Amino acid sequence: MAVIVAHRGAPRRAPENTMEAFRLAVEAGADAIELDVHLTADGQLAVIHDESLDRTTDRTGPIASQTMDEIRQADAGATFARDDDSGFPFAGQGLAVPTLPEVLDWLPESMGLVIEIKARAAADAVVEAVAGHHVLTSGRLAVISFDESSIERIRELNRDIKTGYLLVPTQPIHPAMVWATEHGHVGVFPWEGDLGMDPLPLIAEASAFGREIGCYVVNDPEQMRHLDACGLWGFVTDVPDVARDALGR
Ligand code: G3P
Ligand code: CA
Repeated sequence: MAVIVAHRGAPRRAPENTMEAFRLAVEAGADAIELDVHLTADGQLAVIHDESLDRTTDRTGPIASQTMDEIRQADAGATFARDDDSGFPFAGQGLAVPTLPEVLDWLPESMGLVIEIKARAAADAVVEAVAGHHVLTSGRLAVISFDESSIERIRELNRDIKTGYLLVPTQPIHPAMVWATEHGHVGVFPWEGDLGMDPLPLIAEASAFGREIGCYVVNDPEQMRHLDACGLWGFVTDVPDVARDALGR
Protein backbone atom coordinates (compact mmCIF):
# COMPACT_ATOMS: atom_id res chain seq x y z
CA MET A 1 0.00 0.00 0.00
CA ALA A 2 1.56 3.28 -1.14
CA VAL A 3 2.39 5.79 1.58
CA ILE A 4 0.48 9.07 1.11
CA VAL A 5 2.82 11.95 1.91
CA ALA A 6 1.16 15.35 2.23
CA HIS A 7 3.32 17.89 0.40
CA ARG A 8 3.89 20.89 2.70
CA GLY A 9 0.72 19.74 4.52
CA ALA A 10 -2.53 20.21 2.64
CA PRO A 11 -1.44 23.22 0.54
CA ARG A 12 -4.67 23.53 -1.46
CA ARG A 13 -6.66 23.92 1.76
CA ALA A 14 -4.39 26.16 3.84
CA PRO A 15 -1.09 28.02 3.47
CA GLU A 16 1.74 25.55 2.80
CA ASN A 17 4.08 24.58 5.63
CA THR A 18 1.84 26.01 8.36
CA MET A 19 0.39 24.24 11.38
CA GLU A 20 -3.06 24.61 9.82
CA ALA A 21 -1.91 22.88 6.61
CA PHE A 22 -0.40 20.08 8.70
CA ARG A 23 -3.54 19.70 10.81
CA LEU A 24 -5.67 19.47 7.66
CA ALA A 25 -3.32 16.86 6.19
CA VAL A 26 -3.89 14.67 9.24
CA GLU A 27 -7.64 15.25 8.95
CA ALA A 28 -7.48 14.30 5.25
CA GLY A 29 -5.98 10.93 6.13
CA ALA A 30 -2.38 11.37 4.99
CA ASP A 31 0.11 8.79 6.25
CA ALA A 32 2.93 11.31 6.54
CA ILE A 33 3.63 15.03 6.29
CA GLU A 34 6.39 16.48 4.14
CA LEU A 35 7.88 19.83 5.15
CA ASP A 36 10.88 21.99 4.25
CA VAL A 37 13.45 23.43 6.65
CA HIS A 38 15.94 26.29 6.60
CA LEU A 39 18.32 27.48 9.31
CA THR A 40 17.72 30.94 10.75
CA ALA A 41 20.39 33.50 11.72
CA ASP A 42 20.13 32.37 15.35
CA GLY A 43 20.47 28.67 14.53
CA GLN A 44 16.80 27.65 14.65
CA LEU A 45 14.87 25.56 12.16
CA ALA A 46 12.22 27.47 10.23
CA VAL A 47 9.64 25.37 8.38
CA ILE A 48 9.37 27.14 5.04
CA HIS A 49 10.01 26.18 1.43
CA ASP A 50 11.76 29.21 -0.05
CA GLU A 51 15.03 30.72 1.11
CA SER A 52 13.22 34.01 1.73
CA LEU A 53 9.93 35.17 3.26
CA ASP A 54 8.86 36.92 0.07
CA ARG A 55 6.46 34.52 -1.64
CA THR A 56 4.52 33.07 1.29
CA THR A 57 4.36 35.88 3.86
CA ASP A 58 3.80 39.62 4.17
CA ARG A 59 7.49 40.19 4.89
CA THR A 60 10.66 39.91 2.86
CA GLY A 61 14.27 38.89 3.17
CA PRO A 62 16.33 35.73 3.50
CA ILE A 63 15.61 33.24 6.28
CA ALA A 64 19.33 32.80 6.90
CA SER A 65 19.82 36.46 7.83
CA GLN A 66 16.87 36.81 10.25
CA THR A 67 16.28 35.45 13.73
CA MET A 68 13.37 33.11 14.43
CA ASP A 69 11.73 35.89 16.50
CA GLU A 70 11.84 38.19 13.48
CA ILE A 71 10.52 35.45 11.18
CA ARG A 72 7.70 34.70 13.61
CA GLN A 73 6.40 38.22 13.10
CA ALA A 74 5.61 37.44 9.47
CA ASP A 75 2.04 36.50 8.54
CA ALA A 76 2.34 33.06 6.93
CA GLY A 77 -1.30 33.27 5.81
CA ALA A 78 -0.93 36.56 3.94
CA THR A 79 -0.52 35.37 0.37
CA PHE A 80 -2.61 32.18 0.24
CA ALA A 81 -5.56 32.62 -2.12
CA ARG A 82 -8.26 30.03 -2.68
CA ASP A 83 -8.85 28.66 -6.18
CA ASP A 84 -12.38 30.09 -6.19
CA ASP A 85 -11.01 33.63 -5.94
CA SER A 86 -12.56 34.21 -2.52
CA GLY A 87 -9.64 36.37 -1.42
CA PHE A 88 -7.09 35.64 1.27
CA PRO A 89 -8.96 33.67 3.94
CA PHE A 90 -5.95 33.12 6.21
CA ALA A 91 -4.52 36.65 6.11
CA GLY A 92 -4.42 38.21 9.56
CA GLN A 93 -5.50 34.97 11.22
CA GLY A 94 -2.31 34.57 13.21
CA LEU A 95 -0.57 31.90 11.14
CA ALA A 96 3.18 32.00 11.64
CA VAL A 97 6.15 30.22 10.11
CA PRO A 98 6.48 27.17 12.37
CA THR A 99 9.69 25.87 13.89
CA LEU A 100 10.58 22.21 13.44
CA PRO A 101 10.41 21.59 17.22
CA GLU A 102 6.89 23.07 17.21
CA VAL A 103 5.80 20.57 14.55
CA LEU A 104 7.52 17.71 16.39
CA ASP A 105 5.78 18.64 19.65
CA TRP A 106 2.42 18.53 17.90
CA LEU A 107 2.91 15.55 15.54
CA PRO A 108 0.40 12.74 16.27
CA GLU A 109 2.01 9.41 17.12
CA SER A 110 0.60 7.61 14.08
CA MET A 111 1.89 10.17 11.56
CA GLY A 112 5.04 9.86 9.55
CA LEU A 113 7.27 12.84 8.85
CA VAL A 114 9.46 13.61 5.85
CA ILE A 115 11.82 16.50 6.51
CA GLU A 116 13.32 18.06 3.42
CA ILE A 117 16.55 19.92 4.10
CA LYS A 118 16.65 22.97 1.86
CA ALA A 119 19.87 24.40 3.27
CA ARG A 120 22.86 22.22 4.16
CA ALA A 121 23.45 24.39 7.23
CA ALA A 122 20.25 22.99 8.75
CA ALA A 123 21.45 19.36 8.88
CA ASP A 124 23.07 19.37 12.34
CA ALA A 125 20.09 21.11 13.94
CA VAL A 126 17.68 18.61 12.34
CA VAL A 127 19.57 15.68 13.88
CA GLU A 128 19.45 17.38 17.27
CA ALA A 129 15.74 18.21 16.97
CA VAL A 130 14.60 14.66 16.14
CA ALA A 131 16.82 12.83 18.66
CA GLY A 132 14.68 10.55 20.82
CA HIS A 133 11.41 11.68 19.22
CA HIS A 134 8.69 9.04 18.68
CA VAL A 135 8.68 9.65 14.94
CA LEU A 136 12.32 8.55 14.81
CA THR A 137 12.11 5.66 17.25
CA SER A 138 8.99 4.30 15.53
CA GLY A 139 10.71 4.33 12.12
CA ARG A 140 8.29 6.89 10.66
CA LEU A 141 10.88 9.59 9.95
CA ALA A 142 12.79 10.22 6.74
CA VAL A 143 15.12 13.12 6.01
CA ILE A 144 15.47 13.90 2.32
CA SER A 145 17.28 16.42 0.17
CA PHE A 146 18.21 17.30 -3.39
CA ASP A 147 21.61 18.13 -1.91
CA GLU A 148 23.78 15.04 -1.43
CA SER A 149 25.98 16.67 1.21
CA SER A 150 22.95 17.34 3.43
CA ILE A 151 21.88 13.71 3.64
CA GLU A 152 25.50 12.61 3.93
CA ARG A 153 25.84 14.88 6.96
CA ILE A 154 22.69 13.41 8.53
CA ARG A 155 24.11 9.90 8.24
CA GLU A 156 27.45 11.03 9.55
CA LEU A 157 25.73 12.27 12.71
CA ASN A 158 23.08 9.60 13.24
CA ARG A 159 22.81 6.36 11.26
CA ASP A 160 19.41 5.59 12.77
CA ILE A 161 17.84 8.35 10.70
CA LYS A 162 16.53 7.12 7.35
CA THR A 163 17.64 9.36 4.52
CA GLY A 164 16.41 9.72 0.97
CA TYR A 165 17.87 11.25 -2.15
CA LEU A 166 15.59 13.63 -4.06
CA LEU A 167 16.22 13.85 -7.77
CA VAL A 168 15.60 16.93 -9.86
CA PRO A 169 13.43 16.50 -12.96
CA THR A 170 15.19 14.54 -15.75
CA GLN A 171 18.02 13.43 -13.42
CA PRO A 172 18.95 9.84 -14.37
CA ILE A 173 17.57 7.44 -11.78
CA HIS A 174 19.95 4.48 -12.15
CA PRO A 175 23.17 6.26 -11.11
CA ALA A 176 21.28 7.91 -8.25
CA MET A 177 20.13 4.50 -7.07
CA VAL A 178 23.69 3.18 -7.19
CA TRP A 179 24.95 6.22 -5.26
CA ALA A 180 22.17 5.98 -2.66
CA THR A 181 22.90 2.28 -2.15
CA GLU A 182 26.64 2.79 -1.79
CA HIS A 183 26.04 5.59 0.71
CA GLY A 184 23.34 3.89 2.78
CA HIS A 185 20.40 6.13 1.89
CA VAL A 186 17.16 4.16 2.05
CA GLY A 187 15.45 5.56 -0.98
CA VAL A 188 15.42 7.67 -4.10
CA PHE A 189 12.64 10.10 -4.91
CA PRO A 190 12.48 11.18 -8.54
CA TRP A 191 10.06 13.57 -10.12
CA GLU A 192 6.86 11.74 -11.12
CA GLY A 193 7.37 12.42 -14.83
CA ASP A 194 10.65 10.51 -14.79
CA LEU A 195 8.98 7.24 -13.79
CA GLY A 196 7.59 6.93 -17.32
CA MET A 197 4.46 5.08 -18.38
CA ASP A 198 5.60 1.84 -16.79
CA PRO A 199 7.36 2.24 -13.44
CA LEU A 200 7.63 -1.53 -12.86
CA PRO A 201 11.23 -1.91 -14.12
CA LEU A 202 12.37 0.92 -11.83
CA ILE A 203 10.49 -0.51 -8.88
CA ALA A 204 12.08 -3.91 -9.56
CA GLU A 205 15.49 -2.27 -9.79
CA ALA A 206 14.98 -0.47 -6.49
CA SER A 207 13.97 -3.74 -4.90
CA ALA A 208 17.08 -5.46 -6.28
CA PHE A 209 19.18 -2.67 -4.77
CA GLY A 210 17.28 -2.96 -1.48
CA ARG A 211 16.08 0.66 -1.82
CA GLU A 212 12.67 2.30 -1.67
CA ILE A 213 11.39 4.36 -4.55
CA GLY A 214 8.81 7.10 -4.18
CA CYS A 215 8.08 10.17 -6.26
CA TYR A 216 6.79 13.74 -6.17
CA VAL A 217 4.21 15.34 -6.76
CA VAL A 218 1.22 13.17 -7.75
CA ASN A 219 -2.19 14.84 -7.82
CA ASP A 220 -4.08 12.75 -10.39
CA PRO A 221 -6.22 9.98 -8.79
CA GLU A 222 -5.76 7.59 -11.72
CA GLN A 223 -1.99 7.92 -11.54
CA MET A 224 -2.13 7.39 -7.75
CA ARG A 225 -4.01 4.13 -8.24
CA HIS A 226 -1.59 3.05 -10.97
CA LEU A 227 1.50 3.72 -8.84
CA ASP A 228 -0.07 2.01 -5.86
CA ALA A 229 -0.93 -1.07 -7.95
CA CYS A 230 2.65 -1.16 -9.26
CA GLY A 231 3.98 -1.31 -5.70
CA LEU A 232 5.61 2.11 -5.44
CA TRP A 233 6.73 2.85 -1.85
CA GLY A 234 4.73 6.08 -1.79
CA PHE A 235 4.18 9.48 -3.32
CA VAL A 236 4.09 13.10 -2.29
CA THR A 237 0.79 14.85 -3.06
CA ASP A 238 -0.83 18.27 -2.73
CA VAL A 239 -4.21 16.57 -2.29
CA PRO A 240 -4.05 13.96 0.48
CA ASP A 241 -7.86 13.78 0.65
CA VAL A 242 -8.03 12.87 -3.05
CA ALA A 243 -5.28 10.28 -2.50
CA ARG A 244 -7.11 8.72 0.40
CA ASP A 245 -10.26 8.30 -1.74
CA ALA A 246 -8.30 7.16 -4.81
CA LEU A 247 -6.60 4.37 -2.85
CA GLY A 248 -9.87 3.35 -1.24
CA ARG A 249 -8.67 3.71 2.29
O1 G3P B 1 9.07 15.89 -1.60
C1 G3P B 1 9.67 16.41 -2.68
C2 G3P B 1 9.28 17.78 -3.01
O2 G3P B 1 8.84 18.45 -1.88
C3 G3P B 1 10.43 18.47 -3.63
O3 G3P B 1 10.11 19.67 -4.22
O4 G3P B 1 10.19 22.07 -4.38
O5 G3P B 1 8.23 21.00 -3.37
O6 G3P B 1 10.36 21.08 -2.14
P1 G3P B 1 9.71 21.00 -3.49
CA1 CA C 1 9.75 19.86 -0.26
